Amino acid sequence: MPTFRAARGTRDLLPDATPIWTSLERLTADLATRYGYHRIETPMFEQVAVFERGVGEVTDIVEKELFRIAPRSEESEAWALRPEPTAGIVRAYVQHGMQTWPQPVKVYELGPMFRYDRPQAGRYRQFWQFDVEAIGDPGPAVDAEIVELGMRVLREAGLDGVEVLLNSIGDSVCWPAYLAMLTAYYRGHADQLPQLEKDRLDRNVLRLLDSKDPAMAPINAKAPRITDHLCDACADHFAGVRGHLDALELTYRLEPGLVRGLDYYTRTAFEFYVAGREGQQQALGGGGRYDGLVELLGGRPTPGIGLGIGLDRLVLALEEQGRANDGDGLPPTAVVVGADPDDTVSRLRIATTLRAGGIAARAELGRRKLGKQLEAAVRDGAHFAVIVGDELIEGDVQVKDLSAGTQKTVRLDDLPRELSRAHAAHHHGGPTASP
Ligand code: HAM
Repeated sequence: MPTFRAARGTRDLLPDATPIWTSLERLTADLATRYGYHRIETPMFEQVAVFERGVGEVTDIVEKELFRIAPRSEESEAWALRPEPTAGIVRAYVQHGMQTWPQPVKVYELGPMFRYDRPQAGRYRQFWQFDVEAIGDPGPAVDAEIVELGMRVLREAGLDGVEVLLNSIGDSVCWPAYLAMLTAYYRGHADQLPQLEKDRLDRNVLRLLDSKDPAMAPINAKAPRITDHLCDACADHFAGVRGHLDALELTYRLEPGLVRGLDYYTRTAFEFYVAGREGQQQALGGGGRYDGLVELLGGRPTPGIGLGIGLDRLVLALEEQGRANDGDGLPPTAVVVGADPDDTVSRLRIATTLRAGGIAARAELGRRKLGKQLEAAVRDGAHFAVIVGDELIEGDVQVKDLSAGTQKTVRLDDLPRELSRAHAAHHHGGPTASP
């Protein structure tokens, strides 16, 4: 037999690892809802052109990392797995005429993304993102709202020392003069440029600024900065974003070298890091404004802004800080065991009744002896063992409190109510008055 393995750059999240994921899914959904963002689900694959136009043809994500789906003979269109959600969400905005809805349209999405990158710690070919988008608001207040939401997600997840790096990368008004200057600068260093960067110099010079090639770092450090060449409107907008962040007392670090790796950005750009770990593959999340994207994908000119947080990297960072242990891996409240190992029917029926009554219950469905069943219930961390014995004929079972060691007879009809009450008392450290 061949040995089958998960594809390179993908991972199986085994049950002992998923509680933190489940709690992050809940946290992000709760926070997004609290901030007025509604859930959207877009497909995991789209026409390649959505990403080529949206993310940009001359970007790492499209040139090198796109998972293209081999076209079937009867299809004329080319498809690719989504490397990020923003382009697909904006495609949906245009397709469903959301510009006629009350603006801004505020949505969030959580799901797997796919990038064919060289796998390493914190960089996977399938990874998860939490994403929010506010489409139809030119800002600058909403820019601050989104940055603050991102910070809150990371903080409430339990992460310490999170920092936000902030920049404005201008727009089509400031770019022509700036890009000409940037191109001239790189031409002056042409002999030092790696091949990929040389090729991109005339096609998309901005991408040289966020090159992953270490050889580019010293050259980029001295490159002209967009922040010094913003047009008046962009400068005002940027001042507005900072003013709103200051009003929220949210500390940020201005980072004039931050340009992000996707072409759709205009004006506000930001990234989240654990302070002191600002390396290439360390961003926990990032985002920015994309005032030209709706139009690029066939809609009316409409501003927009959003952010994406990488859940894989967030989990890694939480683990490094020793904060990934709390989750929802709760033990069952009750385990239903029985004196007659063969009577799986009664045990399954009682567990089913408990579950219908809202109680987390496991039934012992194996045929081992009662002693072994009880040992397993203790190992599970259950609070109670429901012991099915001869008195079942009278409609009674025994309930054993596994931590207190006490045992009593309970009517089967009363069992769900009795267990809820006793369970609540356990949690609140005393008897509860509620029914
Ligand atoms: P991005 O910076 O490309 O932005 O990705 C956002 C986050 O996804 C990154 O900060 C990182 O945490 C995570 N991430 C990216 N690639 C990988 C990977 N290969 N493995 C693990 N995690 C990864 C966007 O995708 C934009 N759509 C964000 C946005 C939304 N901008 C506006 N709206």
